[in-house]
Amino acid sequence: MAAILEKSKLALLGGQPVRTKPFAHCNTIGAEEKRAVAEVMETGVLSEFVGVWGDHFNGGPRVRGLEREWADYFGVKHAVTINSNTSGLFAAIGALGIGPGDEVIVSPYTMSASAIAPLVYGATPVFADIDPVTYCLSPASVRARITPRIKAILAVDIFGHPAEWDELRAIAKEHKLGLIEDAAQIPGGKYKGRWAGALGDIGIFSLNYHKTIHCGEGGVAVTNDDHLAERLRLIRNHAETVVAAQGDARNFGLIGFNYRMTELHAAIASEQLKKLEALTAPRIEYAGILQERWGKIPGLQPATCQRDCRHVYYVFATQYDEALHGVPRTKFLEAVKAEGVALAGGYVEPLYLQPIYQQRVMNCGPTCRGYSGEVSYARGLCPTTELMHFSRLFYTPLIHAHLSRADVEDVALAVEKVIANISQLK
Ligand SMILES: Cc1ncc(COP(=O)(O)O)c(C=O)c1O
Repeated sequence: MAAILEKSKLALLGGQPVRTKPFAHCNTIGAEEKRAVAEVMETGVLSEFVGVWGDHFNGGPRVRGLEREWADYFGVKHAVTINSNTSGLFAAIGALGIGPGDEVIVSPYTMSASAIAPLVYGATPVFADIDPVTYCLSPASVRARITPRIKAILAVDIFGHPAEWDELRAIAKEHKLGLIEDAAQIPGGKYKGRWAGALGDIGIFSLNYHKTIHCGEGGVAVTNDDHLAERLRLIRNHAETVVAAQGDARNFGLIGFNYRMTELHAAIASEQLKKLEALTAPRIEYAGILQERWGKIPGLQPATCQRDCRHVYYVFATQYDEALHGVPRTKFLEAVKAEGVALAGGYVEPLYLQPIYQQRVMNCGPTCRGYSGEVSYARGLCPTTELMHFSRLFYTPLIHAHLSRADVEDVALAVEKVIANISQLK
């Protein structure tokens, strides 16, 4: 195989591409979801939430049913549906009582919602660096960022691999911090035998369209803490109107929103949850193909799964060594794309480089009068994140359940061919 590949002219330079067929997109919606939606439509009641303390404060039968199923599946005491992971992250910050003057440690290498959540409550996001193997928050970097103002750690199980939760929990315990798990990308993943999502004080899943299971837009927050669960439910549904009736004075300062999930979305999500394992197993199998084949190539470092963990490969991330290959990552990816396989370079720009942090144009957080810290958002703040984003990392979502082994072998081959002929790009 290597010899054949070496003689191939790269498609970028006029050679025959590895693949000309487009890849199938992942459609997880089937007859079950359609039937479930039709049943709700038949009732005419698309949401049963009412912002009044009483029977309907926590939604209708599908919402409550999904919450029971989710809690059973992930072995947690409480599951609280919300209309997105983003609103769940906001609610988690609110439930922990974080506010102006406080700081929350966040990852810079994640979807922006994971870092912006503290700012919604006037608190300051403090970015710690990532681990160069899992791309999740590095516990050592988290430790280095601890100040008396830090009130919580918000860690993300990025790309479907769990963060180093035992160490994060030890830090949180030592400094009496809240621990929030952004589990948007990891339903079905595990850490030391425990389900991801249930590893912090509050974990939040996403059910947006791009996730392994979805209902278009939606999310579920989970916790084993009764008080936090109650606060999440209050924030979800106009807390301020019901706290007097609810009667717990600790909640009187809560501001509520409309983060409610509809009966339609809950009905779809219930069906999707039943498919989680069947949609996850092929990802793990296909990741194995890429690991096996790209792992043999010097200067490529495919995603790995740490001991006692279950990686669910929301996307498959790989590192490319520009210096060893003598070709910039952009040129390498351009050549792979010409072979018929589009891979993405970097992930999201390190979040602290966004204008809101660079120009400090927020009305809160580090610009609050009550803030006494000196948070930095300078370039160079998180060197591993910057290295991954600007030169080393590429990723692909082309390992989903609606691809065949042959499709994933094409993904593997396109990269192998370009690497075997990389001298043509110099
Ligand atoms: C890590 C991470 N956090 C948060 C979110 C936000 O999720 P949602 O779209 O459900 O609000 C996403 C969505 O892509 C994500 O990947």
